[in-house]
Amino acid sequence: MRKIRRIIVCLLISTSAVAADADNRQTLILSEAQRDHVLEEMRALLSGTRNILMALSTDDMASVAQSARPLGLGMAHKAEDHFKSVLPKEFMQLGMSLHQDFDQIAADAESRKDPKLTLRQLSDAMSKCVACHDTYRIGTTPSSEQPAQAQKHEHHHHH
Ligand code: HEC
Repeated sequence: MRKIRRIIVCLLISTSAVAADADNRQTLILSEAQRDHVLEEMRALLSGTRNILMALSTDDMASVAQSARPLGLGMAHKAEDHFKSVLPKEFMQLGMSLHQDFDQIAADAESRKDPKLTLRQLSDAMSKCVACHDTYRIGTTPSSEQPAQAQKHEHHHHH
């Protein structure tokens, strides 16, 4: 019995070590203000998504559209100029495609009023949240491996 327990403990320790090593996400080097901006948009995405789900639970499709629309391309265009030069093209494209999905969700909620369709669209859209989070993390410390990006730091102004 004791031996088995020891084996289990060893297994647990080794899997958690592997999990810690598995953070292969690409680090985006941003200024603090830029990071705050990205994270603020992220929190808006999370609470908007939650509002859509709540509206869906009562088949309130007008409210689904109302919650989805602010997460559409309108939200992206505000941030785009700010970030085009800083964030990788793939990151921007994934973000744009997610905002497009929310516009589509809003439009279909109004015209087709089909909660099941919205749920399917939302879960497809959220696979982009998952994909991006699996790929990127944000760092604000300039890395010696990325001197070009670290240099941008010097031109940053605090507000
Ligand atoms: C194009 C890339 C991308 C997409 C798409 C994306 N995120 Fe994020 N998100 C990030 C990055 C990068 C971070 C920072 C992660 C880190 O540094 O560990 C983040 C962080 C967050 C955070 C933490 C915010 C904070 O204040 O710390 C939340 C919540 C979040 N995302 C929600 C979402 C939701 C919900 C969706 C989809 C509806 C989504 N994100 C889609 C890139 C993305």
